[in-house]
Amino acid sequence: MDVVFNILRQQDGGVPYAQQYTLEVSPRSTILDCLNRIKWEQDGTLAFRKNCRNTICGSCSMRINGRSALACKENVGQELDRLKAIAHHTPEAVSQPVFPSTSPTVEQAKGSAPEASHLPQITIAPMGNMPIIKDLIVDMQPFWDNLQAVEPYVSTQARNVPEREFLQSPEERDRLNQTGNCILCGACYSECNAREVDSSFVGPHALAKAYRMVADTRDGQTEERLELYNTDTQGVWGCTRCYYCNSVCPMDVAPMDQISSIKQELLSRKSKEESRQIRHRKVLVDLVKQGGWVDERKFGIQVVGNYLKDLQGLASLGPLGMRMLMRRKFPLSFEPSEGTETVRSLMEAVQRSESDL
Ligand code: SF4
Ligand code: SF4
Ligand code: FES
Repeated sequence: MDVVFNILRQQDGGVPYAQQYTLEVSPRSTILDCLNRIKWEQDGTLAFRKNCRNTICGSCSMRINGRSALACKENVGQELDRLKAIAHHTPEAVSQPVFPSTSPTVEQAKGSAPEASHLPQITIAPMGNMPIIKDLIVDMQPFWDNLQAVEPYVSTQARNVPEREFLQSPEERDRLNQTGNCILCGACYSECNAREVDSSFVGPHALAKAYRMVADTRDGQTEERLELYNTDTQGVWGCTRCYYCNSVCPMDVAPMDQISSIKQELLSRKSKEESRQIRHRKVLVDLVKQGGWVDERKFGIQVVGNYLKDLQGLASLGPLGMRMLMRRKFPLSFEPSEGTETVRSLMEAVQRSESDL
């Protein structure tokens, strides 16, 4: 079958442009096979990373039809089926090639058929949240720097090193399997919404590795680590829980779940007084248990105002409160939900089941 590849290209920070290449391919060909053929048969200047061709090294991450994935894992048939499914649900989403917000000009590669617009199309762009070096190659230095920031090495500083090897039980080792599968491909970082708006947030790959360290029984610095990962929006509290990292990870590392596990460790150790982030979680749970949903009047005072102890925090709520009052959106009273008892018993059942794990 003939397929058109729309590839977003860019050099030396110049204006991005889309280049089209038409190839006759098998549905079973991987996207990386196709890129190799484009480079070898049509255009040797096209730049992309690759190495193992077998979902091991993590080198070939790129945005394929709008989401970050490994080019050596996805194949043409699956990609076209995926596009058809998206078109079925949201026709407007696939009427244009899936490029980032730039509006690239389109150049047709030598040898591409003029009737290419009628052929199935696959769009390929570089990963997001990292500067582009050339075409599909991005500068991953920020990704590595953020990994380094979580101190991703087992530390033996706080305990005596045994004379023989430090043994773990099979159960203790099993806790490291999922996070240990990370191949540092960058797909999660590329799609992270929190990272896009907050350059201090270390990113899902780093925090997945951070949980691997917290869960490792050989590590002697769990408490110091938790303090580090508890840092404002730079650590776990920067995650907006959008689930995107979980959905794109090719190795099922589920970074967002690992971030949640670190949060659980923190919440089990800290009182409401410790920080606004901790209060936010605990007050939310308390209020929903009390009334079935959140009493917004109490929420602001307890979380931001720290139960009237943080006068500066309370004052910061003033302008918002005034605007809400003027628009008659300030809740003057609170009606508990009719299902409060049910909500409370459900929450307690979940909490009990989590503490049994
Ligand atoms: S967590 Fe998954 S998506 Fe993120 S770098 Fe590791 S393997 Fe890639
Ligand atoms: S769930 Fe959190 S870490 Fe994952 S992509 Fe969304 S904001 Fe980023
Ligand atoms: S080339 Fe190694 S993961 Fe794709």
